[in-house]
Amino acid sequence: MSKTKLIGPFTQLLPMTGLPLKGALHDDQLPIISNGGILVFEGKIQKIGVFEDLKSPDVEVHPIKEKAVCLPGFIDAHTHICFGGSRARDYAMRNAGVSYLEIAKAGGGIWDTVTQTRKASQSMLEDGIVQRSKEHLRKGITTMEVKSGYGLSVDEELKMLRAIKMANKNIQMDLIPTCLAAHMKPKDWTGEGDYLDEIVALLFPILKAENLASRIDAFVEESAFSPKEVAPYFTEAENMGFSITVHADQFTTGGSEVAVRFGAVSADHLEASTAKEIELLAHSNVIATALPGASLGLGCDFTPARRILDAGGALAIASDHNPGSAPMGDLLTQASILGTFEKLSNTEVLSGMTFRAAAALELNDRGTLKPGNLADFITFPTENYQDITYHQGQLQPDSVWKNGKQVFERN
Ligand code: NIG
Ligand code: FE
Repeated sequence: MSKTKLIGPFTQLLPMTGLPLKGALHDDQLPIISNGGILVFEGKIQKIGVFEDLKSPDVEVHPIKEKAVCLPGFIDAHTHICFGGSRARDYAMRNAGVSYLEIAKAGGGIWDTVTQTRKASQSMLEDGIVQRSKEHLRKGITTMEVKSGYGLSVDEELKMLRAIKMANKNIQMDLIPTCLAAHMKPKDWTGEGDYLDEIVALLFPILKAENLASRIDAFVEESAFSPKEVAPYFTEAENMGFSITVHADQFTTGGSEVAVRFGAVSADHLEASTAKEIELLAHSNVIATALPGASLGLGCDFTPARRILDAGGALAIASDHNPGSAPMGDLLTQASILGTFEKLSNTEVLSGMTFRAAAALELNDRGTLKPGNLADFITFPTENYQDITYHQGQLQPDSVWKNGKQVFERN
């Protein structure tokens, strides 16, 4: 029989518990347990508290390095790390003054990655996901959402989602798949009728049958799908019991209204959201997910995170890691920089990558350190949690724990 493990002592243990899902947060609300410890049994948290109080003859102590701030493993609730090829040329063109949308119109952009992803085999895609998720794990991510959306046909979307499912078996973090068949209109569509009708009729049932995804996403944008065009796709997704998430208000508004209308779990991007969209989101149960990596990759405005929080919204922060708009893929760096520009408290930044991100993925067994939750946590080599954002991603986790097991240690 496995024994209960006591891990610690942590100079500061941040359970991220007792904080509201929505609205602004001040750092004096952040619970901190000094000299904390975590009791772990069979991959789950049994108890947390002061290390000395948790000691008993029945537990096996796993000591931690001298200085350590411990908090829940980060959750990256929006990525596109399943892709083939590179878009370095797009990046150079953007920096030479051509806009993202102009590049897309000229045949580059998402369509370029679709072409390159279609050329890759399922196992090549799987290898890419495994390699990228290993990098993310070293940076403290223990759960990561991954979208399809570079296939844009029934078979090619299936190839991507099967690659995500296979990769998930071979890595030490959890991948949460999302079907983004509505990423843009496939330029080579020659089928009869509407592309999205075919996706609904042919792809959605296979997603269910093979358990490939329980979440459906669409890019609502002038260059992709209008609110009217995605309505039947989302209606059918809802009828079939999928959860909905939306790429919303990235360049033009309209997407967040769709998200609220369909009771989406999250509306992501929101760089173009105005007071109207912010109010709408704040008065709904939709999590607003900021993607600072896309702002840094495209050189455009950040999501109005401060205004969303002050209006009472729930703010998650994700990397959007993808080859086009967000090639960096470093959530902590991006979230720290978003905090600087948007004037976010440390508690707001850390909440956006932990329990508020868990809510965006409808995961209620992680994102906080409390009894019953998965023992997914990370430590930073410091005595002061403020150092985490202060170093803007340069202070990295020195240990990562998934389901109670140490899966990474930095020497
Ligand atoms: O979230 N905005 C749409 N989709 C992605 C970009 C994908 C790409 O450029 O390849 C995003 O930014
Ligand atoms: Fe995205």
